[in-house]
Amino acid sequence: MLYKNLSVNDAGHLCFAGYDTTVLAQQYGTALMLMDEGAIRSRCQEYKNAMADFLPAGSMPLYASKALSFKRIYEIMKEEGMGIDVVSSGELHTAVRAGFPMENAFFHGNSKTDFDISFAMENGLGYFVCDNIDELNAIDAEAARRSITQKVLLRVTPGIDPHTHAKINTGRVDSKFGAAIETGQAEELVLRTLEKEHIQLCGYHCHIGSQIFEHDPFCDAAVLMLQFMADIKAKHGFVPKFLNLGGGMGVPYTAEHPSIDYAANIRSIGALIADTCKKLELEAPVILMEPGRSIVADSGITLYSVSSIKKIPGFKNYVAINGGMTDNPRYTLYQSDYTVLAADRMNEKADFVCTIAGCCCESGDLIQENVSLPEPKRGNLIAVLTTGAYNYSMASNYNRVPRPPIVMIGENGPYVAVRRESLEDLVTYDL
Ligand code: LLP
Repeated sequence: MLYKNLSVNDAGHLCFAGYDTTVLAQQYGTALMLMDEGAIRSRCQEYKNAMADFLPAGSMPLYASKALSFKRIYEIMKEEGMGIDVVSSGELHTAVRAGFPMENAFFHGNSKTDFDISFAMENGLGYFVCDNIDELNAIDAEAARRSITQKVLLRVTPGIDPHTHAKINTGRVDSKFGAAIETGQAEELVLRTLEKEHIQLCGYHCHIGSQIFEHDPFCDAAVLMLQFMADIKAKHGFVPKFLNLGGGMGVPYTAEHPSIDYAANIRSIGALIADTCKKLELEAPVILMEPGRSIVADSGITLYSVSSIKKIPGFKNYVAINGGMTDNPRYTLYQSDYTVLAADRMNEKADFVCTIAGCCCESGDLIQENVSLPEPKRGNLIAVLTTGAYNYSMASNYNRVPRPPIVMIGENGPYVAVRRESLEDLVTYDL
């Protein structure tokens, strides 16, 4: 099994976090998103402990909540002592409504509006991660209006090209995010920030991309950022408290993907940071990291029911399910790999090669191709693994398909954390 919270019981049913998925499907209906709360918590602890052990004092992980955002997840992050990264007023509001302490929140994004800035300040946001000069001016103006000093980090583009999908690659000079070191715009942004009366510059931030399996790009980014820090120190005598290295560590979606030892990676980045700071004669900054996918992706699975099987002789076989790009657009967008299992027939021979098709009126609405299953029948249960990150958070109501619920498996058993959307919910905003 790909993950340790998966097993097969005597009935040949897939079990998730100790629960028979066919029973959960009966109880809550399909399509159904299941999340293993214990697995989320242990990932948080893994990051927290490794960062405390191997990085300068005060270093901590911030959960990148764009990966999966709903009230309960912010409660869990609060309980686990994590910080959070939010990218919109919507995520911020959800965190506020969950009672998350806003002083530990970092507000990202390349296009913050006046409303976003004012709403965040109103709610006592800890830090903005400021992307550009227009935004800097707007933050300063709003902070002045409120007679406060706002803490910010600056988003810097280190000029790294990690080997990941182009749509989730953000470290390159031509990225829409941040100010590049190479063009001098990062330095310019630092100088403009230091002039601001109502802004306290607390650190630099970079994020090179997502679903990265190699360790080297993270090391390269850390070294480039420390060099940038040393450079600014030498030229302008300024050293901030934080260096935020973003998120991006990969997660295995299939048995072919490597599995990453996050703690070991953090230990080696820690050693590199210590070494580089010594060489550069720089006091080691407090390190922040922003894992999203690696906190929640493999804590989630999605269950679907099969609605039809279509065999096109000489071409291919389709297995259609009662969900698709509306709850998981990642194959459509990025051709992402997924592991698909016949959850109610785990012990049968998987010799039927097929394409898992979603229910939307769109040919590209597929979940995965070249999947081997025991030949399904209408009503069979399909499990798609590793759907905890960037599935529910990217879900839509295309074709007016309601979003599935999120059922958490907690210490005391399963509970509904987000209820299923009803057909009536779909017309809530229609006047
Ligand atoms: N920090 C920043 C500034 C980010 O932009 C991101 C992700 C993260 C942290 C978290 O990265 P992670 O640890 O999750 O890789 N929708 C795409 C992924 C987009 C990632 C956007 N930024 C997908 O489904 O693969």
